[in-house]
Amino acid sequence: MDLGLRDKVAVIMGGTSGVGLKAAEMFLQEGAKVAVCGRNQERLDKACNHLLQFGSADRIYAGTCNVTNKQDVDAFMNGTAGALGGIDILVNAAGHSVMGYFFDITDEQWQEQIQLKYFAVIYAIRAAHPYLVKQGGGRIININATLAKEPERHMVATAATRAGLLNLSKTLSQELAPDNILVNSVSLGLIRTDQWERRRLQNAPNVEPDMYYGDLAKKRNIPLGRVGEPEEVASVILFLASRQASYVSGSTIETAGALGKAL
Ligand SMILES: NC(=O)c1ccc[n+]([C@@H]2O[C@H](COP(=O)([O-])OP(=O)(O)OC[C@H]3O[C@@H](n4cnc5c(N)ncnc54)[C@H](OP(=O)(O)O)[C@@H]3O)[C@@H](O)[C@H]2O)c1
Repeated sequence: MDLGLRDKVAVIMGGTSGVGLKAAEMFLQEGAKVAVCGRNQERLDKACNHLLQFGSADRIYAGTCNVTNKQDVDAFMNGTAGALGGIDILVNAAGHSVMGYFFDITDEQWQEQIQLKYFAVIYAIRAAHPYLVKQGGGRIININATLAKEPERHMVATAATRAGLLNLSKTLSQELAPDNILVNSVSLGLIRTDQWERRRLQNAPNVEPDMYYGDLAKKRNIPLGRVGEPEEVASVILFLASRQASYVSGSTIETAGALGKAL
């Protein structure tokens, strides 16, 4: 099926690892151009080398950028538009979660989650908006988590800020509709990415990955019986960016193996 992504420019905030990197790879395979960013230069270089298997250098733009820093975000977005000839799709995938109960989470951790889940998205959308308008419209895809609707006490700061982002995404789908910009969310459960690999290496370095993730799926009662893979999220991102999703806005697609119970 032709997704209509040929020569579209997809900007992926946090595209050097996990679902962001997989989405970048799949956008290139569909003939799109991609921009990826992250804070760490080494990871960025590695990601670029990986992406060169799927598209030529003139179709890839990469830059170090801390998504919580407005100047960084503006510079990255302007650099992308200059190098790739505009912006059609924005994917907000940068971030990580924080484990901790209410009385354990420090002010700094709250601030960090608020910066990541609100301001990073606000900065990116403000910076991309003029370019999306110039193209006659576009797509914004915010990566979220089932936690947004189903808070868990041990992840209080991430859950609360995720809920706010889901609410913001809905408002923006209405606010930006006159500009023909469609705004949607992808709500993740447990996906096997570097974020989880870091936890595995920290907590159970000697356990075989397949066994670790199998146990994790059992412990978390994931109805499909396994954790998800990055390409299973990236496929949903590409669908939301595709011409087939031209009337989908303000929605959330749960990509969590039936984990969430919220309607
Ligand atoms: N994996 C899951 O099970 C799961 C579940 C629910 C929600 N999510 C969400 O899905 C999104 C992607 O997660 P993932 O699992 O793919 O994580 P990942 O493999 O750790 O990738 C995260 C990406 O974001 C970048 N990043 C993090 N903080 C950043 C910052 N301040 N500025 C710029 N880039 C930043 C990282 O690069 P640098 O570190 O180099 O900056 C990396 O490219 C995150 O928002 C995460 O919270 C994931």
